[in-house]
Amino acid sequence: MTIRGSHITGWGTALPDQVVTNADFEARLDTSDTWITERTGIKERRFGGTTASLAAEAGKMALESAGLLPSDIELLILSTTTPDLTTPATSSIVQNTIGTRGGAFDLNAACAGFVYAMVVAGGMVKMGANRVLVIGSDTLSKITDQNDRSTAVLFGDGAGAIVVELDPTEDKILSYDLGVDGSAVPILYCNHGGYMTMEGREVFKKAVRVMVESSRNVLESAKLTSDDIALVVPHQANLRIIEAANQRLGIPMDKTAIVLDKTGNTSSASIPLALADAAEKGKLKEGDNVLFCGFGAGMTWSSAVVRWSKS
Ligand code: ACO
Repeated sequence: MTIRGSHITGWGTALPDQVVTNADFEARLDTSDTWITERTGIKERRFGGTTASLAAEAGKMALESAGLLPSDIELLILSTTTPDLTTPATSSIVQNTIGTRGGAFDLNAACAGFVYAMVVAGGMVKMGANRVLVIGSDTLSKITDQNDRSTAVLFGDGAGAIVVELDPTEDKILSYDLGVDGSAVPILYCNHGGYMTMEGREVFKKAVRVMVESSRNVLESAKLTSDDIALVVPHQANLRIIEAANQRLGIPMDKTAIVLDKTGNTSSASIPLALADAAEKGKLKEGDNVLFCGFGAGMTWSSAVVRWSKS
């Protein structure tokens, strides 16, 4: 039987140059480094660039890391909540900058979008695509009221990318779980031309619940337990959310990829930024089981267990 499985063969990242520290907020808002650090774990974030420029930078780096040319790519999926234009899709701009072949489209599942996009890429490989470039890019600083202390300190800009390629031996995407509860739209949304509105406490509670449920679902589907997981790559919104979910799942924090202290919440970019950081620090080895887990406005959620195998 022909297997049309997938594996991750490359990764890339992009962060704007401007570093915004907690001290910068302290200087102009009624907030403090202590409050932000204790409630979120965030110390600094980056502002700048466009969704397309950051996406293209991360995408090019992912191609280099996979040893591929832009013309090798047969599909580009860009996960973003902050498109540069209403139309066309930001992926069109990215396609033109990188020079990929085949189709390109944007996907919006808020902060859960990157794992949605990775799962869709795996499905497209099953349907015949050999190499898919998956990018998560967001410029949340554009849709955050920088004078509102309850949201301004949380979000940042950035991009991360992976290459998903055909694996004819085994599907390394062992299981996935995608979900949405549309009744939660009012707790986190942004109108056209407006700023994000969020009921932080509600989002916090629901986020922990869906992360735990969704992670349990993918572990069960993959016939694994939390002890079999070498690394969790969670959405980087708030360290306390991650700690609460990990505790319920029985996963220690030292098996968890964390970059939010340096990036804040970068929505679609957060999971690939954390994955790339872990990979570059040598925290991943062939055969490791990696648990991805995202959640976001919608309320959306998305998890997957992927067996790490670059070669
Ligand atoms: N500095 C100082 N005080 C603040 C700040 C700040 N930056 N922001 C809020 N406060 C105050 C509030 O006004 C409130 O004061 P009050 O008690 O006098 O009313 C107090 O701090 C406590 O506020 P809470 O909202 O109850 O604080 P909480 O412990 O819940 O932390 C936080 C707030 C960090 C927002 C938390 O609820 C959270 O992280 N929620 C989840 C957010 C999230 O993950 N969002 C992204 C989802 S992904 C996506 O799709 C974008």
